[in-house]
Amino acid sequence: PRADGIDLKAHIRSVPDFPKPGILFYDISTLLRDADAWQIAIARMTRALTPRRPELLAGIESRGFLLAAPLASRLGLGFTMIRKPGKLPGPTVGLDYELEYGSDRLEIQQDAVRPGQRVVVLDDLLATGGTMAAAISLLQQVGAEVVSAAVTIELNFLGGRDKLGVPVDALVSYDE
Ligand code: PRP
Ligand code: MG
Repeated sequence: PRADGIDLKAHIRSVPDFPKPGILFYDISTLLRDADAWQIAIARMTRALTPRRPELLAGIESRGFLLAAPLASRLGLGFTMIRKPGKLPGPTVGLDYELEYGSDRLEIQQDAVRPGQRVVVLDDLLATGGTMAAAISLLQQVGAEVVSAAVTIELNFLGGRDKLGVPVDALVSYDE
């Protein structure tokens, strides 16, 4: 791969008025399809997560899965899926939440974690924080110790991290 000094923002595309008018959508498709840039992103996230000493990772459907799987593999950990409604066989716990452009629901299996297990939860993007806050709450409800949240992109101006109550590691952030 190229030297590790690359600017990941150069590989993230912003799309105006998607999925709704007024929303500037940060698209990681262009990062995912560039083999070197994607490797570097995963390596940087690995370095950010390691000091959190996770015992298990959690990924939020669907773009969080893209991070959870390669990071779990690199760290030698398992990962658990936090999914949109009706996808996981029961018993499950669910939570309705608001996000930047609508409302949704997430679910987790009741036996997803061991009691007190140290979990880092992953998503591609932290916007309002509604999605991440719901995921953290679900993990805590099933007994996890959520030690941090990690995202590729943070939208600072939406204040999402203030809703979470856990440390946040972000690779790149935007102020508007
Ligand atoms: C997007 C993004 C985050 C969430 C961030 O997911 O992938 O999960 O929104 O928004 P928030 O911080 O305001 O909650 P989306 O629900 O669009 O679905 P996807 O990951 O399945 O594409
Ligand atoms: Mg998502």
